Amino acid sequence: MTDCDLLIVHAEELATPAGRGPRRGAAQDELLVLRDAALAVQRGRIAAVGPTAEIEAAWRARVRHDARGSFVVPGFVDAHTHPAFVATREREYDLRLRGVGYEEITRRGGGIFRSVDDLRAAPDDVLAACLRGHLRGFLAAGTTTVECKSGYGLTWRDERRSLELLAREAAALPLRVVPTFLGAHQMPREFRERRADYVRELAKEMLPEVKRLGLARYCDVFCDVGAFTVEEARAVLQAARDLGLGLRIHAEELGPSGGARLAAELGAASADHLIHADDAAIDAMGAAGVTPVLLPGTVFALAKSAPPARKMIARGLPVALATDFNPGTSYLQSPLLLLSLACAVLRLTIAEALTAATANAAASLGLADECGALLPGLSADAVLIRGTSHQLLGYRLAEGPIERVLCRGQLLDPRAFGPFASAA
Ligand code: NIG
Ligand code: FE
Repeated sequence: MTDCDLLIVHAEELATPAGRGPRRGAAQDELLVLRDAALAVQRGRIAAVGPTAEIEAAWRARVRHDARGSFVVPGFVDAHTHPAFVATREREYDLRLRGVGYEEITRRGGGIFRSVDDLRAAPDDVLAACLRGHLRGFLAAGTTTVECKSGYGLTWRDERRSLELLAREAAALPLRVVPTFLGAHQMPREFRERRADYVRELAKEMLPEVKRLGLARYCDVFCDVGAFTVEEARAVLQAARDLGLGLRIHAEELGPSGGARLAAELGAASADHLIHADDAAIDAMGAAGVTPVLLPGTVFALAKSAPPARKMIARGLPVALATDFNPGTSYLQSPLLLLSLACAVLRLTIAEALTAATANAAASLGLADECGALLPGLSADAVLIRGTSHQLLGYRLAEGPIERVLCRGQLLDPRAFGPFASAA
């Protein structure tokens, strides 16, 4: 008998990617599925996974949680979110439903500009409280690792406090937060007539400070119609790469931006959205090892056509998923609804979607050896969901309920986290 901190026993089913990410092609559809399953946790890591009888014969724990009535999957990894905002934008959604386009709303000074005005005007305590509510919302929804972007400040002061307050709020929770600098989210109004100056400021002033202060692991650019051009994005991302930051890019969302090819050229970790990515861009990304991060919540809420997910899987790219949680185009935190949308909108199988939102998302964040699967040695991150089969995930539209969230070995009751996403 070996001692451990926690045993989760008698789960109706345990389902996990059968290996660490990135998982491509047929492997993306392969899960390890056990019935009447157990999980042993020691010092925040998974010590063992197996049938309850076997695990209980080998491990003895201080705390034993009976998971009858639930199935267990890895803690969800959300590889693309924008939680550093202080106000919702539901009126814009209503305007869009009345036929006003997203780009038109931006031209009228709404969109990202609206959220930038709100954030710049908000004192630190308001921004911190919003970040706290959003981070708790992720955890309560079953997400245990989340990539979080700045990008509604667009001044050094406001980008910096977005990332500093994010780090402070993240440190108070078990949630694993991966910070990304998105100072290139939109061209600030005050630079409209001198775009090159803002690009220079990003590359020469802000990014070196981001690096020096350890505020972000990745740099992202919104490379699209109405945002940054390929040339501008290249200048910012090259500077980030030279500083040793990883690269991510918003590409091919609103139009064929050329961002996917740029991601391949620069060896970015991910290219995200990809609604307009063509075959050549997909192959270039595949050859360069760029992970496609697909955001079906945004596709759904903007009523766009779906990115070519099946083609990406067929061509051997390890497709990942994310919510794109933001106040403009995807007010979504739930990984359960994300999976349902991935199946219904992108036509992924349930197993492919689960892999995309766990092992492949983790791999896109450089965390394949840390999380994303229920395998010995990885972080003890799991979600216990009421039901008997992981296949309920795609089928039962957005419905949980989430019974428990295991995050870095801490077993949490999501009801203790209050309402999801409590933006002011
Ligand atoms: O990923 N595309 C850029 N950023 C967000 C939208 C941000 C906003 O509208 O506030 C996105 O869709
Ligand atoms: Fe985004």
